[in-house]
Amino acid sequence: MRSLVVGITGASGAVYGVRLLEVLAPMPVETHLVVSKWGQRTLEHETGRSLDDLRALAERHYAPGDMAALMSSGSAAIDGMVVAPCSARSLAAIACGLSENLIHRAADVMIKEHRPLVLLVRETPLSAIHLENMLKLARLGVTILPPVPAFYGRPESIDAMVDYTVARTLDQVGLRRDSNARWQGGLGRPGE
Ligand SMILES: Cc1cc2nc3c(=O)[nH]c(=O)nc-3n(C[C@H](O)[C@H](O)[C@H](O)COP(=O)(O)O)c2cc1C
Repeated sequence: MRSLVVGITGASGAVYGVRLLEVLAPMPVETHLVVSKWGQRTLEHETGRSLDDLRALAERHYAPGDMAALMSSGSAAIDGMVVAPCSARSLAAIACGLSENLIHRAADVMIKEHRPLVLLVRETPLSAIHLENMLKLARLGVTILPPVPAFYGRPESIDAMVDYTVARTLDQVGLRRDSNARWQGGLGRPGE
């Protein structure tokens, strides 16, 4: 995995995209960032960060309407893609192959080229439409990774919960890192 597209859409949980970029920054991976209009709005609302702050974390960045950008073509040297977070709208567009914007198009390219695509779909509760869209994509080999925390690592902060999901996301694109939250095997006695 040498080059990765990171898409950020307008679902709650912009922090996942931010943290993903922060973790990737020192790694030998070229990051290509695309943020949807509502991804930008939720980023600002939920994290107080600006689009420029986010862009500074990525190697390259693109406007969501730039359909001529590198990752619009399967011939570009892009190895995988993560959408974090992924809204129900973007999920639907990707599931239907609509390619309305650069995030959808880049995802479409990943699917047709059989390259890793991970969607951190965030919505609750999930309707049958959402579930059907996720099932359709899962059957095509897309990883559906809702940002759901695990508690077996006894996380003590929101940061720890976010880091857990980011580590699990990177696992899916072959970028395994050390993480304190990994299950080590064995349970303590009740109450311990
Ligand atoms: C504060 C806020 C939180 C939102 N949270 C979600 C969410 O968790 N999941 C979701 O599917 N849409 C959510 N939405 C709605 C999306 O932003 C909206 O459907 C938008 O059209 C998504 O477009 P995009 O996928 O191009 O970013 C939220 C909107 C706002 C303003």
